[in-house]
Amino acid sequence: MQSFWNSLPRPFFVSAPLADVTDPAFRRLLATYGKPDVTWTEFVSADGLYHMREKAKIPDKENPLMRDLAFTEAERPVVAQLFSRDPEMMAYAARLVADLGFDGVDLNMGCPDRAIERQGCGSAMIKTPATAQAVIAAAKSAGLPVSVKTRVGYNKESLDEWLPALFAAAPAAVTVHLRTRKELSLVPAHWELMQKAVALRDAHALSVLMLGNGDVADLDDARKRAAESGADGVMIGRGMFGNPWLFAGRKSTDTPLKDKLEALIELAHGFEALRPQKHFAILKKHIKAFATGFDGAAEMRARLMDAENAAELEAAIRQSLAESA
Ligand SMILES: Cc1cc2nc3c(=O)[nH]c(=O)nc-3n(C[C@H](O)[C@H](O)[C@H](O)COP(=O)(O)O)c2cc1C
Repeated sequence: MQSFWNSLPRPFFVSAPLADVTDPAFRRLLATYGKPDVTWTEFVSADGLYHMREKAKIPDKENPLMRDLAFTEAERPVVAQLFSRDPEMMAYAARLVADLGFDGVDLNMGCPDRAIERQGCGSAMIKTPATAQAVIAAAKSAGLPVSVKTRVGYNKESLDEWLPALFAAAPAAVTVHLRTRKELSLVPAHWELMQKAVALRDAHALSVLMLGNGDVADLDDARKRAAESGADGVMIGRGMFGNPWLFAGRKSTDTPLKDKLEALIELAHGFEALRPQKHFAILKKHIKAFATGFDGAAEMRARLMDAENAAELEAAIRQSLAESA
């Protein structure tokens, strides 16, 4: 199948799916200030999309899940991340994602959230490889390239069993978050395991692209990780917090405070316009991340945290900037 995966540079650098962070508003910032080679949505419930169909005959554009899936041309290639353990619902959701014009589907097989695992999804998939294979096949039936994002194992590293099981379902790419489910994000990512993951791909499934993920701070770090491990690509998540310029090669300290705060204002207005059903408090993690690393940052953050909408946040930022001028 001809897909965007075949025309990426090597190594390539992609934005991670981050629930309540890489929403449509933040992805627009990325597209403007530092475009990743591939952009990921947050994870979206395939079952939720499927059940929405029962309520409304046509997909309801106002539905929160559909709003999560809104994207602009500037984000391409853009991949929608879905989760489900049910092949029928996954097939439906992948078709919907194809109809919406996405370039690819990514399947979440690494999320450690108990609520997701109780549904047999996320990391729980590592314990049910046959289900994982059925869900990959179902997603592929929609015609888009299908990738998988997972971890190195559940309670312990089990790449020797888990990766060949995934490769048997022939995904276009596999992203390995280099920790087990049990480790959550509590230990440093095991980048030394990426070489092993790449060697397993070389032995089993040459056509599958391998991406490494975990604790990568910036593009210099990503290039080094790719060179050391042989990974085709590197995925970066938390490194983007407060730094939508990351994929343009900037470290978080490279951008002047004023530009960061202007980007935060843009993000807040975008969030309100594009995700009106979500609580403004979700933006607090962005406020913390953008308003940091300068004298007086703590005082400014305390002031900005009181804002309850984008207009209030903008006013508080402009006042702070005027006072410090
Ligand atoms: C706030 C937050 C939300 C996340 N949401 C998702 C998600 O929706 N889907 C997913 O596969 N991983 C999710 N992750 C995991 C990240 O994609 C990534 O694997 C992890 O943060 C390690 O990479 P990093 O060190 O570059 O951040 C999330 C992580 C964080 C911190």
